[in-house]
Amino acid sequence: MSSHGDPIPMTSTPGGPLTGEAHVPGDKSISHRALILGALSVGETKVTGLLEGQDVLDTGKAMRAFGADVQNNGGGNWSVHGVGVGGFGEPDQVIDCGNSGTGVRLIMGAMATSPITATFTGDASLNSRPMGRITDPLALFGTQAYGRKGGRLPMTLIGSRDPVPAHYTSPVPSAQVKSAVLLAGLNAPGETVLIEKEATRDHSERMLAGFGAQIATEVTNEGRVITLKGQPELKPQTITVPRDPSSAAFPVCAALITEGSDVLVPNIGLNPTRAGLFTTLREMGADLVYENEREEGGEPVADLRARFSPEMKGIDVPPERAASMIDEYPILSVVASFAEGKTYMAGVKELRVKESDRIDAMAVGLRANGVTVDETEDSWTVYGLGPNGVKGGGTCATHLDHRIAMSFLCLGMAAQSPVKIDDGGAIATSFPIFEGLMGGLGAQITRDPT
Ligand code: S3P
Repeated sequence: MSSHGDPIPMTSTPGGPLTGEAHVPGDKSISHRALILGALSVGETKVTGLLEGQDVLDTGKAMRAFGADVQNNGGGNWSVHGVGVGGFGEPDQVIDCGNSGTGVRLIMGAMATSPITATFTGDASLNSRPMGRITDPLALFGTQAYGRKGGRLPMTLIGSRDPVPAHYTSPVPSAQVKSAVLLAGLNAPGETVLIEKEATRDHSERMLAGFGAQIATEVTNEGRVITLKGQPELKPQTITVPRDPSSAAFPVCAALITEGSDVLVPNIGLNPTRAGLFTTLREMGADLVYENEREEGGEPVADLRARFSPEMKGIDVPPERAASMIDEYPILSVVASFAEGKTYMAGVKELRVKESDRIDAMAVGLRANGVTVDETEDSWTVYGLGPNGVKGGGTCATHLDHRIAMSFLCLGMAAQSPVKIDDGGAIATSFPIFEGLMGGLGAQITRDPT
């Protein structure tokens, strides 16, 4: 089943080269945060280039349910009239975050220190994901949570009436945990401190500072110590959302493995907390060039040019790079299948609690297409078959996971035989224009009769 409808089985048939320009949509992480922080400031926040994927649309709907006025002005331009820190009203309906772990976890943080009650749910994928990693630190602020066994959604949160600031060391490398704690800290008096041992994406810190919060990050032996002063008045902003490097990964990687390809993916944010995949691909010997490197809105940006790279070699991906490419391991495992030799990916147990168990989902699907994969709880190895070595011909289960669906469709572009997926419906959560965009480059993706 797709996240919001009937299953959409699809086939990707190997064919000609991929050529041309790929204009990928806005960054998903930044889009969620723009709507949530817009809702927590007083006045009008204007957002251009918002990702209009289902995950972000669900967050917009949730912000309306808490009292913000969220308007779609067309062409990727949105405005949010916020209610201010501590201004959330109690929603009169259950908040359905669909497929989005980022949406539900950040929103839980944002409402946790207001004296209101809200019940959250999602699709089958989201309702199977762990929420204890969020509700444990929120309890330090005085927030109560009542969910299903194992801390699963549906779940009701009772926001703290008299919040106290928290001091929390995150046991998992997770920007979602970090962001939930910081958003909860906004409405607690005094200083909230969040320590992360490994650097995760820092969009929340950057955007909170942009909205006028007092937030500082210190790099110490313990890790990154982030201190936020509570109860600021957030000032509305004008935000231009950069294009999503996690979406850019698909046309880039498809071009690297498909014979004769030459694709330009313009305006991609290369924030070091997000760009680990591109570094890894270059280490593997990919013909991936950063053109027109520049700074935009304080972020490094470049146009990525990817050309067919038949000489790529498998490598050991350093575990300390995992957080900066956590969503990109599925598509990296596809590229690794077309490299010479083995690619070893360690320190990645977080992949097991994403929209699906991504190690298992990719391992099963790659094996069905002739690729050998080994896995442990925390690592996996893909044995590359070289540029023309992947048989294809398999049907892959996508488990309501957009990145698994897109990864297998890219596999089919360069395999010897077509690759099928059972359901591409979840692609709309993050990359609603994927089929058209890849088709425009020359990919042959079709929807199959159900
Ligand atoms: C995200 C953080 C990551 C990532 C997700 C988006 C974010 O999750 O997988 O797609 O926007 O904060 P974790 O922080 O839990 O690793």
